[in-house]
Amino acid sequence: MHHGRRKIALIGGGQIGQILAMLAAEKELGDVVVLEIPELENPAKGKALDLMEMAPHGNYDANITGTSNYKDIAGADVVIVTAGKPRQAGMTREDLLAVNIKIITEVANGVKANAPNAFCIIVTNPLDAMVYVFHKVTGFPKKQVVGMAGALDAGRWRAFIAMELGVSVTDVAGTVLGGHGPDMVPLPRLTTVGGVPLTEIATKEQIDRLATRTREAGTEIVKLFGKGSAFFSPAYSAITMAESYLKDKKRVIPSAALCEGEYGVKGLFIGVPCLIGKNGIEKIFEIKLEADEKALLEKTIGSVKKTVEECKM
Ligand code: LAC
Repeated sequence: MHHGRRKIALIGGGQIGQILAMLAAEKELGDVVVLEIPELENPAKGKALDLMEMAPHGNYDANITGTSNYKDIAGADVVIVTAGKPRQAGMTREDLLAVNIKIITEVANGVKANAPNAFCIIVTNPLDAMVYVFHKVTGFPKKQVVGMAGALDAGRWRAFIAMELGVSVTDVAGTVLGGHGPDMVPLPRLTTVGGVPLTEIATKEQIDRLATRTREAGTEIVKLFGKGSAFFSPAYSAITMAESYLKDKKRVIPSAALCEGEYGVKGLFIGVPCLIGKNGIEKIFEIKLEADEKALLEKTIGSVKKTVEECKM
């Protein structure tokens, strides 16, 4: 039995981290610790204090603190990792990979030493590789480590369908498989609107256009921002996963989970439908795919494999 408030540690207090803190507080998931690098400890403390001062309006009871000391995440129930560098002008993808491998390795060691029982949700890009590195370094059980990507990608797929058809997004159900990259695989055949198959109420042209937009959705936002990438929807996606764990909701959410045979994948984190409950990733659902869907999945698995190989772990 658990007594008292739960504890959520946010590693990284940037654009996504600050929204995570607000959502965790508003949903009263528990006390929140925002961990930043020493140079950014004061801004993290400031954001935490600002959220404490928002509590009278939000009517939430939570202690929200900022720190740069890993000891302060001790005993966390959930860790959400957003720390990492975004790509700068002139940087190759390999440069970003090298920088973020170093950051995620440090984070993984800090989490391993201070919060060894936490359910760990990785958000840092390139997602499928960073969650692999985090798992490798911590050696945590596979149920305890997951990457946030499918929740975001499937959410975008659902949002675009609702926008296109003029229906409530609540009634749009559908999933996206594979890596968090331009060859991710939305599954129109298995997408429904209030139980009505998408393929019966949208044309092939519409479906293809929405699938393409979903695959490029991250880039669409980056282009609009000019600098930086999406933060509201990634944050809410990760909080939904944390909430399913903390409240044992057993939601089925596409997430990057370690596959050991599922979908023919061995030893890679790939976006697959996961049941998230009090034991973490309690189950991976395997969908019977058709030949064309299988071919698309093979392609995205190949891309993830390539990026993971570049990590040389
Ligand atoms: C996105 C990028 C940042 O999907 O991964 O928004």
